[in-house]
Amino acid sequence: MKPVDTGFEGLALYPRHLDEVAQRALAAELARALERAPPYRPQMPRTGKPWSIRQMNFGPLGWVSRPEGYGYASRDEVNSAPWPAIPAALLALWDDVAAYPASPECCLVNLYEQPKARMGLHRDEDEAALDAPVVSLSLGDTCVFRVGGFARGDKSKSFRLSSGDVLVMGGSSRLRFHGVDRVIFGSSRLIPGGGRINLTLRRVTKPA
Ligand code: SIN
Ligand code: FE2
Repeated sequence: MKPVDTGFEGLALYPRHLDEVAQRALAAELARALERAPPYRPQMPRTGKPWSIRQMNFGPLGWVSRPEGYGYASRDEVNSAPWPAIPAALLALWDDVAAYPASPECCLVNLYEQPKARMGLHRDEDEAALDAPVVSLSLGDTCVFRVGGFARGDKSKSFRLSSGDVLVMGGSSRLRFHGVDRVIFGSSRLIPGGGRINLTLRRVTKPA
């Protein structure tokens, strides 16, 4: 399927890229994986303030936020274990939409589990492979996703991201500010108990 025009070059939105059956299968696989590798509540750098969401990672590298700073780690230090492997369905999604000659190394899992869960405006800039896009899949409740420019105060616009939608931030949109204003709780029945799961695939290191 072709992406819809977002008005930003390099920012591609594929509505319902995953159909209901694929969403259900992936949600069930994630639930099983997250039982073995429990998500944790990250802390803000410096202040140690807890985030409103919980996180986990799949893949050889995991993105972490802790009082010492942001960055990638090769192990899950909270659970004292390697990060679990990226599910095959997500590797297939990357192959479908990323148009990049190497695999993703990190799948960050963001769990929006309560009505006040959100994510402030930020840029994904801890990766050396900035030529690779960020591929983001939404599952469960719809969110209001904000995309801005290249400085924090730039004009921004919002999009609704619903279950099964895929957003690709690449090319000249790779370093745009973005964040989640809010989640519309109760808008989907995919996840038992409600809430939203976001899966963000990224290439971190430059391929050899
Ligand atoms: C992120 O920017 O890491 C997550 C965005 C989202 O939850 O859609
Ligand atoms: Fe991000």
